[in-house]
Amino acid sequence: MKLQGAYSRNLGRIAHAIKAIITATLVLSALSGTAQSGNYDEPFRPQVHFSPRQHWTNDPNGLVYFHGEYHLFFQYNPFGDTWGHMSWGHAVSTDMLHWHELPVALPEKDGMMIFTGSIVVDRKNSSGFCSPGTECLVAIYTGSREPPQVHRQTQNVAFSRDNGRTWTQFAGNPVLDLEMGDFRDPSVTWNQETRRWTMAVSLPKEHKILFFASADLKSWSQKSEFGPAGNVAGDWECPDLLRVPSLDGKSSIWALKVGLNPGAPQGGSGEQYFLGNFDGQSFKLSTETGSHGWTNYGKDDYCAISFNGLPAGHAPVLLGWMNNWQYANRLPTSPWRGQMSLPRELSFTKDEAGIALKQEPIVKPLRGESRSISVQSSTDLSGVKLGDETAPFELDLHFDKPSEQTFGVRLYSDERHWTEFGFNRQKGEFYMDRSQSGAAPSPYFPARTTAPLVTQRPYDLKIIVDRSSVEAYAQNGTIAMTDLIYPAGQNSRIQLFSLSGRAVSVQGRTWTLKSIWK
Ligand code: FRU
Repeated sequence: MKLQGAYSRNLGRIAHAIKAIITATLVLSALSGTAQSGNYDEPFRPQVHFSPRQHWTNDPNGLVYFHGEYHLFFQYNPFGDTWGHMSWGHAVSTDMLHWHELPVALPEKDGMMIFTGSIVVDRKNSSGFCSPGTECLVAIYTGSREPPQVHRQTQNVAFSRDNGRTWTQFAGNPVLDLEMGDFRDPSVTWNQETRRWTMAVSLPKEHKILFFASADLKSWSQKSEFGPAGNVAGDWECPDLLRVPSLDGKSSIWALKVGLNPGAPQGGSGEQYFLGNFDGQSFKLSTETGSHGWTNYGKDDYCAISFNGLPAGHAPVLLGWMNNWQYANRLPTSPWRGQMSLPRELSFTKDEAGIALKQEPIVKPLRGESRSISVQSSTDLSGVKLGDETAPFELDLHFDKPSEQTFGVRLYSDERHWTEFGFNRQKGEFYMDRSQSGAAPSPYFPARTTAPLVTQRPYDLKIIVDRSSVEAYAQNGTIAMTDLIYPAGQNSRIQLFSLSGRAVSVQGRTWTLKSIWK
């Protein structure tokens, strides 16, 4: 039927008005956080890892400690559960584990999306953004315009005088514009030696990190560049520059972490690190063995950044997005999609095998009931069941004096589904195999992820099992391996295995972990 004249126009207007009201309600509820639903108990809902109550998240942004609160900002789509309308979501915590989600902090505006970036504490009001005589938070982020607009990325600044609750855009934005389509993810820190702000920012297609300096966070001058170096199979994104202490706290080294997507060794997105020196102007890679490695050898840890503003003496803390662009938009979760890793304290170790980054997840405050494990010189590990646990839980194992070549542990969710963690001395690798773990949301999902094994380092293993992920740390934390899993059930039968029946002793412990949402 054909509607005519004024009648049809009026219907059109009414429809338009209804659409406007619905859109306005959606925008308001998304921005105020009132549309939050659910009790964090849906299938696969992480219990010890942060995830937004609803909608899509990717990279963590602007991690900062300020006035007794840890802030986690994150790439967020306030309108849906796939990538788009990128804005900064916001959550706060007093321990980096229990998070409280707040309204969107920096929304997409006038067709400019708010991409990844960092937040600094401007202690001396160097920017002039703080109220006189006070300190405040300054965010430095990438503004991104995508087709059909001209593809262009610039660096921009916003500030908050109320502990990150509300933000004002700097009227002089952008503060850096190279007239390029790909120029993103500023990592800004205060450099004590030069008494200047340092920005490490990526030219993804050139595989370069540029270093800029500034006295006021507004006017920036380029000092140097690093790269191409290491792996250049894909875009370089999400740099993070930080000083890392040695395990004994007596010395320190600089680490430059760079995201790589696609083309990482495990497929898709990955994170490499370079260890060396940063003199306030340029980064120089160390020549020591081990100066180039991977912050994570699993498939699901990307765009990790470190907290700014931590109290003096606090170890640096890195936190990443547990995901991979190969299948990020297809994860089988609702009403949210995307989650963060646990925070991890960083240090570095040096031994006969060289230098290595060491990561230790912050999880102790969540520990509940504990059981100890001891298996003496067993020649048939395959028969040994260590018990049953329900996610979330933590398992620590130390394999002592192994004469066996391949051994490890399996977590069975039923007879046909398991996730396997193993040391294969013949092949010289530590691995996690999730190919039998459960649902596979994409053909890229089934995987056996591997890391080089260093014979001189201990055969220890820490596993943190949540409802849809496993974080593994091996060889004294010098190997971190994070992989998502979607098991049919949340109970795990923990069972050891070995291949050829040579002796291994195992000591260890399990802990139940308390949900961060209760
Ligand atoms: C990495 C990334 C960043 C970018 C952001 C956009 O995951 O591509 O380079 O700033 O995601 O959401």
